[in-house]
Amino acid sequence: MMIAFAVESTPTYYISSFMQGHASFLASPSTQRARAIHESRFIMSSTTPCILDRTSDRIESSQPDYPTDDVCASPDIEWDVQTRAIHSGLSPDPTTGAILTPIYQTTTYVQDAVGQDRGFTYSRAGNPTVYALEKQLAALEGVDVPAVAYSSGLAAITALFLAETSAGDTVICSDVVYGGTVRLCKDILSRFGVRAVFVDTSDINAVEQALTDNPQTRIVFIESPANPTLKLTDIQAVATVAHAFGATVAVDNTFLTAALQKPIDLGADIAVYSTTKYIEGHNSTVGGALITKDSLRYELYKHAQKTLGAPQSPWEAWLTIRGLKTLPFRIRQHSIHALEIARWLEADERVATVYYPGLPSFSQHELANRQHINQLHGGMISFEIQGGASAGITLMNNVELCSLAENLGAVETLITHPASMTHASYADEERDRLGITDGLVRLSVGLEHPRDIIADLDRALHIACT
Ligand SMILES: Cc1ncc(COP(=O)(O)O)c(C=O)c1O
Repeated sequence: MMIAFAVESTPTYYISSFMQGHASFLASPSTQRARAIHESRFIMSSTTPCILDRTSDRIESSQPDYPTDDVCASPDIEWDVQTRAIHSGLSPDPTTGAILTPIYQTTTYVQDAVGQDRGFTYSRAGNPTVYALEKQLAALEGVDVPAVAYSSGLAAITALFLAETSAGDTVICSDVVYGGTVRLCKDILSRFGVRAVFVDTSDINAVEQALTDNPQTRIVFIESPANPTLKLTDIQAVATVAHAFGATVAVDNTFLTAALQKPIDLGADIAVYSTTKYIEGHNSTVGGALITKDSLRYELYKHAQKTLGAPQSPWEAWLTIRGLKTLPFRIRQHSIHALEIARWLEADERVATVYYPGLPSFSQHELANRQHINQLHGGMISFEIQGGASAGITLMNNVELCSLAENLGAVETLITHPASMTHASYADEERDRLGITDGLVRLSVGLEHPRDIIADLDRALHIACT
């Protein structure tokens, strides 16, 4: 099966075949052509050679250190997301027939002879359980190139930036994003000459202006819905503009997942995940992933996984595979519960403002309905109550069923104070300007009965507002 991929920002195309496996993929003339295109792109736009340049030995090699099977190019791509989540990318264990992928808790793999391995050599570079998760994630996204799984969402974002940028490059980033992404840009990338420009990506003119002002932009990094204000970015519009400037578009899709939003179908080049949230969904693991349909990018991210040394581990991967199987059901129910609770909050006079993309009062409700699948908007709500910061903090300190904690996207309802918890890395004035006020409450609506969550909020609101 031949697949054509567009190498972004150049008019040239290359052809590859995943059915032939990576060994032939890496050695094929078309691959060498793709590599040349990619390298020349980096050399043209950067004074420092990119990571790919430093890996020529590896890229020239015909010995990949991960399997060479047919990855996940399968007819089941036609299946509904519900079916794909359970079956795609996964197959019974070939030696025992075990229906679930075993946990391959091993560092290394005995080779048949020098230079003859069975697809895996060392678990930092590839592990069968992690690889099963990577195929499952790709299938859910609807792409036939495996995902690359990392030990955390932030490890995935770090790998993305380090694989794609060099000193002198600029990253344009949504102004409202997870605080850890801001910390990574400001505290780490800046020291290596990669500059981050924070832009209101919900404003397409601001994005275009930033691209014009920063011709060395390598990546436009969007988070939509954004953590914690739920501000949306029109992914299709930004992808069109960014591509016209030769930039790559990555979307942190952690809040919705591929079950509710498909960044790659909307024109983005990369979907980014913290699998810690909805994907695993049970507060059991920390993990992350990068997904692309560009097989050359896959090579870059795979190289980063091995070289930066932050792959997902087999036990976490196994739990994530299990969680992912029920993701479509869970996130639908999270969305239904969240809408019910958002409506209740909005109708309560003790509540000043509610941000939920599913509410008609949400300023980007029309975009939400266009961009999110089945008009479901996920399980995250933010709100402010009358009485400002002190009332909000009293509310958070007095919930009983909801847990005051930092994670999101799991079956338990979690309540968070972004200003002091997830977004503490922003300066006070910056947080205020972006709407992350001291009184903002973030609610990750779980799968308890919404009536019970409402009763808990009602009781805590009573304490906070009297
Ligand atoms: C939107 C988003 N992206 C990325 C991350 C980082 O993920 P992790 O905690 O798995 O490193 C988070 C964490 O809260 C997040 O909310």
